[in-house]
Amino acid sequence: MDTKGDVLMQRYELGKLLGHGNFAKVYHARNVLTGMSVAVKVIDKKKVLKSGMITHIKREISVMRLVKHANIVRLHEVMASKTKIYFILEYVKGGELFDKLAKGRLKEDAARKYFQQLISAIGFCHSRGVYHRDLKPENLLLDDEGNLKVSDFGLSALAETKRQDGLLHTCCGSPAYVAPEIIDQRGYDGAKADIWSCGVVLFVLLAGFLPFHDSNLVEMYRKIAGARFKYPNSFPVAAKSLVSKMLDPNPITRISIGDIVEHPWFNTGLVSEPVITETGAGGGDGGGGNCNCNAFDIISLSRGLNLSGLFNDNGEDEKEVRFMVKQPASIIISKLEEVAKILKMKVVKNNGVLLRMEGGLVVDFEVLEIMPNVHLIEAELVAGDRVGFREIMSEHIRPALTSVTEPSE
Ligand code: ADE
Repeated sequence: MDTKGDVLMQRYELGKLLGHGNFAKVYHARNVLTGMSVAVKVIDKKKVLKSGMITHIKREISVMRLVKHANIVRLHEVMASKTKIYFILEYVKGGELFDKLAKGRLKEDAARKYFQQLISAIGFCHSRGVYHRDLKPENLLLDDEGNLKVSDFGLSALAETKRQDGLLHTCCGSPAYVAPEIIDQRGYDGAKADIWSCGVVLFVLLAGFLPFHDSNLVEMYRKIAGARFKYPNSFPVAAKSLVSKMLDPNPITRISIGDIVEHPWFNTGLVSEPVITETGAGGGDGGGGNCNCNAFDIISLSRGLNLSGLFNDNGEDEKEVRFMVKQPASIIISKLEEVAKILKMKVVKNNGVLLRMEGGLVVDFEVLEIMPNVHLIEAELVAGDRVGFREIMSEHIRPALTSVTEPSE
């Protein structure tokens, strides 16, 4: 289903492979209606299930819904089929930031601009309790205007997932960019670990090579643990004190975001304009009022996104299906209408809360408000066969309604 030329859910035509990792492949794709380019991250459910990464995937969705920032790759929508999960992402045209280093280190002003944008994105996430935890070159993309976009929050964690000691305990990230406290599994403060990785990024931009490198992994870890690195002669003097403060092996004394933005090197000719940022799970009210959900609500509502339902095919051979959707009613109704159109079914509306789809099957939908922008959907098969009902529910209705679609701005 995920090869070139295929049309995903009748909406996105898949193009060339942009990259792949352990669980996911990323393709270029085009919205068949609007022609808009997107990046589609395709995740194999089986692999995710086997690896026990479901929680991470759910977290990725929740986290990406939380962060809307000019320097962070936007998640437009999430869709799913029986075997795959699809993240529809903002397409970032300009390739990886680190391709720019092929010709050597960057000029100081260029490095500063990218670093300011990186800190803006990371600071924005941190202030909302979101840590990236996997900052590395592949995750730093450039758009067609040369602005940085941080991608892939796949392994990020929300503050609420901390254990009682207030520290995160999962080890992830690539060694070269990983903070010493992650390597020695002390449990770590996600914010401070990200600052270390940003320090490595800044070093690489200004030096043209990695601060910690060794063909022997154990030796490399030792270098990281002791923050043993050397600046090349060409390294801008004013940037040295900032990098040294970021590459402090002690996370407690390591510089904070607040102090980074106050640092004289960071502030020189500050080129970053105020960025348009937005926080909120609902991503606009779609006519239904603001959502006051906090991160906890979003995590618990990620069950409402119904990935649990997507992973487990039970319970849909009944004549009735119930599930939660975190969307305004107006969006739910318009999505149901969209699906009906695709399925060539007729829609009969009744005052906006009750909707009937007819064509082969007859299915009644009730949309009940649980809290602002959170609805319980009840679907009932009134006439027709259960196999067909099950199929349209799992293949069309649930993916459409549980997708994390932001109303267009
Ligand atoms: N590679 C990985 N994610 C991407 C994205 N969002 N846009 C372009 N290329 C990518």
